[in-house]
Parts: sequence; C-alpha cells; structure tokens
Amino acid sequence: MATKTHILALPFPLQGHINPMLQLCKTLVTKGFHVTLVTTVSISLSLQMQASTTSNLIDIETIPDATNTSEGDMYQVFINNFKAAITQGLPQLIEKHKQSSYPAKAIVYDSVLPWTLDIAHQLGLKGAVLFTQPCTVCSIFYHIQQGTLKITTEDDGSDISLPAMPLLRLRDLPSLIYDKGPYTTLLGLLVDQFSTFQEADWRLFNTFDKLEDEILKWMASKCPILTIGPTIPQLHMDDNDYGLSLFKPNAEDYMKWLDTKENSSVVYISFGSMVTPGEEQMEEIARGLVESNCFFLWVVRAEEESKLPRDFVSEKGLIVNWCSQLLVLAHPAVGCFLTHCGWNSTLEALSLGVPTVAMAQWTDQTTTAKLIADVWQTGIRTKADENGLVTREEIAGSIREVMQEERGNEIRRNAKRWKQLAKEAVSEGGSSHNNITEFEIQLSSTTT
Ligand code: UDX
Repeated sequence: MATKTHILALPFPLQGHINPMLQLCKTLVTKGFHVTLVTTVSISLSLQMQASTTSNLIDIETIPDATNTSEGDMYQVFINNFKAAITQGLPQLIEKHKQSSYPAKAIVYDSVLPWTLDIAHQLGLKGAVLFTQPCTVCSIFYHIQQGTLKITTEDDGSDISLPAMPLLRLRDLPSLIYDKGPYTTLLGLLVDQFSTFQEADWRLFNTFDKLEDEILKWMASKCPILTIGPTIPQLHMDDNDYGLSLFKPNAEDYMKWLDTKENSSVVYISFGSMVTPGEEQMEEIARGLVESNCFFLWVVRAEEESKLPRDFVSEKGLIVNWCSQLLVLAHPAVGCFLTHCGWNSTLEALSLGVPTVAMAQWTDQTTTAKLIADVWQTGIRTKADENGLVTREEIAGSIREVMQEERGNEIRRNAKRWKQLAKEAVSEGGSSHNNITEFEIQLSSTTT
C-alpha cells in the first residue's frame, strides 16, 4: 500500500481559527492524506471531541506548554506563550517524524503564525498559510503592512478608497485600526500576517471567488492565492460538525425545542467564542429580543451569564451556553441570525441561506457587517447610538425588518442565492473545489 502523504496542521488556538483548519484537515483526510493537528498540551486538554467521524481520523499531537514568562496584556501573554511553546516544540516534533515511517512533507498554519514558515523551511517542509478572515479584511491589513494605508483614529466622515473594495468609512475598517484601546498587540498580529506572505509555498483563503471577486483578483495580482472556502462541513461532506470544540453545550434539548417551532419563526443569537458585550448591552439585547416578539435561541457563554439582566426569563426564549451552531442554522425553524459577524458565523449563515442581523462588535466584524449589508445584501446592519450602544428599539426593529417586513423577503432571496453559489464553489468543477484539488496534487508531489 502506498504511504500516505503526511501533513501537519497548526491552527491558532481559538475556536474561530480552529474550525476552518479542522474542516480543511478533514477534506485532506478524505482525499487520502495523513493529517496531524499540532497544538499545546493545555489547549488539547480543553478540546472536546465532537461526533464527527472524520475528525477522529485526524491525529492530534501535543507540544509542552512554555513556562509563563511573557509580560503584557492578556493577548500578548497568550500569543507569546503559544509562540514560545511552538517554536521550541515544533522542530522536535518534525525531527521525530523524520525518524519514523511517515515524515511530514508540509505544514498548513494559521496566517497569524507567520513565523511557522521559517521553522518549516529550515527543516525541509513546505508551508501553506491559511487565512481565516475575509480577503477584504486581510487586504486592509496588507495595506497597513505595505504602508499604503495610514492608521488613524480620527473620523472626519470622508470615504476611504482602497483598490478593489467598496468605498469605506473609518468605522467600516476592522475596529482594531481606529479603536486600538488595549488591542495594539492584536493589530500587530494581524498586520504581521503578511511578513512571510511572499515566501509561503501556498496561500489559502477561506472564502470563494464569487463572494469577494474583485478583491481576490487584486490579492492574486500580488501573489498567487487559492480560495478553498467556505469551510462549512455540510457543504463538503455529510457532516454537521467541525470535530473539536473548546466549549461544551450545557443543554441538549435545544434541537427538540426548535422542532416545536414553525418554519422561520426563531431568531438565533450568538456572538461567537470571544466577544464580551457589557452588561448594559446585554440588557438591551435581552429587552430587544422580548420586544421583537419572536421566539429566540440565545447563546450566552457560561462566563457571560452573570451579565444577563437579573431574573431574566422569557416564555418565548431559550438560553444555552453553547450549541451546535451548524445544526441550529440548518434547522428550518431558524428565520434569522443575530450575529457578531465573526467570519465563520458569517460564512455559515451564508452557506446555509440564513438571513442576518449584523451586530458587529470588533476586529474584522465591522468590515464583514458592511459587506453583509451593502455588498451581499444578506442582512441588515444595526446602528449604535452616540454612546456606542445598540438599543433595544434598534435590535427589535432590525429583527422585525428581517423576519416580517418586505425588506426581509429580498434579503431571504439574496441569502438563498448565496447559499447556492457557496455550494457551487465547493462542488465538483467549482472554484474552491478546483483549488483544493490543485493543492492536493501539489502536496502529493511534494518531496522533502
Ligand atoms: C474569532 C473572531 O472574533 C472573528 O471575528 C474572526 O473572524 C474569527 O475568529 P469568533 O468570534 O469565535 O472568532 O467567531 P466566529 O468566526 O463566528 O467563530 C465561532 C465559531 O464557533 C463558529 O464556527 C460557530 O459555528 C461556532 N459556535 C459558536 C458554535 O459551534 N456554537 C456556539 O454556540 C457558538
């Protein structure tokens, strides 16, 4: 039997980055590759194995955590410790594989870990970088890295014109650019994605050609790229989960609850794995949901629960700590997704044809909200008041607009069209399908 080509995968250890990497790994496994996902011991201990059988075919190998020596804000400490662990442990792991019957030939790594490429090249491996945010957003960081977009926090109300993008206002840019706050580390991390861009052997983007047509062509004019998305399990295989989760659902009955609801009658609300709205904002969301008079399924992560208004209950709502979002979005009872516009959530809604109320919170989400509302027109974008709060009236009104009003019908038609286009992209003959095949052919012929 021919030996399988062995590929390593190094995701950034956050749920929104792990998911697209996992799906790519699963696709490679189904095409006959041997895939080993690499992470630290502490992260592996937090990972819950989900039902997916394909994910069980991915090996997981761990690297000891670094001694906590880093100083700075929580992001800096987290990032520096992860980097220290990987830069120490990855070379040893690659050397260990070299002595085995299945030496690794290449590594797929998250774009925010660009230094991985140097390790790989030094040890004779090829490197494929995976970008897990929209190409539009990545291009904005590319401009900053190249010095063609100056960082500013002053909003003079003028349009920002960048090649191959719609006109943007300051607040349409990724928030880290104008609202730096304590996030200088994260801005640096995202700008740095391009530090080894030209040297990578492959540049993969979790998007598809028709979705970001112009900007993808622009990016490709800088360096060849491969679109491989959307990395949504349901589109690629008969599968409803990514396979590994850092979070555990606290309830199982939400799918049964959805079964009791009429088609398109439920609002699903989730702000992903990182966003932490303030107490005041949580109260506005809670009251806005009640005011909308729609049924709602709301994910409030365990550590956020204390921010809910005291004694908040609604006979029309169900609150869970975590759920299988892919199953929920695919359920016919769900009529709209009130989302923070994380890139995975956005692609999932789009691929499953679910209209959105886009309530972006920070980082890439502000730009994605602009694309949802003005370019793809699969949702509407909420407006914040002068204090930065999205009020209950705004939330209820936006939900009603999508769920009940004429504008909602148009949005639903657009959502259906994008669902079809997403499916086509990853199906036989589609742009992402062709690119994945091309990537696989090149990986298979890689010699180390
Ligand atoms: C982060 C960033 O915040 C986001 O802006 C960036 O684009 C990716 O990294 P996160 O905030 O967690 O991600 O959002 P998102 O990209 O939407 O990823 C969340 C993932 O968790 C999704 O794949 C979603 O399906 C999953 N999820 C969320 C669940 O499985 N269950 C839940 O209850 C909530």
